[in-house]
Amino acid sequence: MAPQPSCTPALPLVLEDIPEELTKQRLRRLGEGIGKVVYASSRWVVYRERSPLEMVALIVLWRVLRKLEALLPGSWGKRLRDRPSRQIRFLRVLVQGAILVFPRTFWYSSHIRDMLRLYHRRSVRGEKLAQSRLGGSHLVPERITFPPTRVSIGGWPGWLVVSEAAERVECTLFERMIELAREDHFEELEEWLDRFLRTRQNGWSLGLFSTDAHLKNFGVIGTRIVLLDSGGLTNRWSEVEGILDKEEAIAQPHARLGLGRALAGHPEIACRFDQRWKATVNRGVVGRCWPIEGKPES
Ligand SMILES: Nc1ncnc2c1ncn2[C@@H]1O[C@H](COP(=O)(O)OP(=O)(O)O)[C@@H](O)[C@H]1O
Ligand SMILES: [Mg+2]
Repeated sequence: MAPQPSCTPALPLVLEDIPEELTKQRLRRLGEGIGKVVYASSRWVVYRERSPLEMVALIVLWRVLRKLEALLPGSWGKRLRDRPSRQIRFLRVLVQGAILVFPRTFWYSSHIRDMLRLYHRRSVRGEKLAQSRLGGSHLVPERITFPPTRVSIGGWPGWLVVSEAAERVECTLFERMIELAREDHFEELEEWLDRFLRTRQNGWSLGLFSTDAHLKNFGVIGTRIVLLDSGGLTNRWSEVEGILDKEEAIAQPHARLGLGRALAGHPEIACRFDQRWKATVNRGVVGRCWPIEGKPES
């Protein structure tokens, strides 16, 4: 059975004190995206928002690596992109240094500025929607707030002041897929892919659509799939229509989700999933799930 979303969103649980496990140990760096870095204790995660400088450095770095990858196939650039973390972090710090030394206009090209603005806009809007419509439901990790407290974190800058935390997921949906493929548990992998499609439908019936629905933006808790990254969440039907039109041109949704290599030895699963995806992620089905009041009158 698909988890049913609750229709009565709840505010984050307000605690008088930070949970002890967040202060009694150094928190481990668990993951990162363009906009934030995530640190974890065993049950909770806290976030460090990246500065605009850090985000620009990352965007510049990804662009350079992507170009390198095209120039030198199968070599450095690709290896670096496959295995980010330490090396990428080191390079990002170098790029940050370069940005501070060379004229800013050189780096803050209009394209990069547009990307930053878009990221920011989508992240603020998505966060608002997630809090007002998904808070307290099965579709997002539980959240707590507490008075601002200093916690110790692994790596730079060594500490952080936080006033909220989110439930830690077991892993991202992408990690779960790769792990199941590695262990040859393809039946279970297929069940998760179906569950992913059902979870998305639960969101659509609340009038929400994730325009950035890749597998690293979702996490796994037990048999639940939760949305980790609310950036890109929209409630505008016209925007959803635009995205769904583009979806039609994607021939192999599994490859687009980064599962090309994992499913290379099982073309029948890949093909079944692609068919189900196409039969679900389209104007007809999303439109039928979508609440009537969210749609413009035709
Ligand atoms: N609640 C969580 N539990 C465990 N890991 C998380 C959690 N939230 C985020 N992460 C990890 O941090 C990464 C980046 O988080 P995300 O919200 O996608 O940041 P960004 O907005 O910068 O893309 C995720 O891909 C995931 O690996
Ligand atoms: Mg993300």
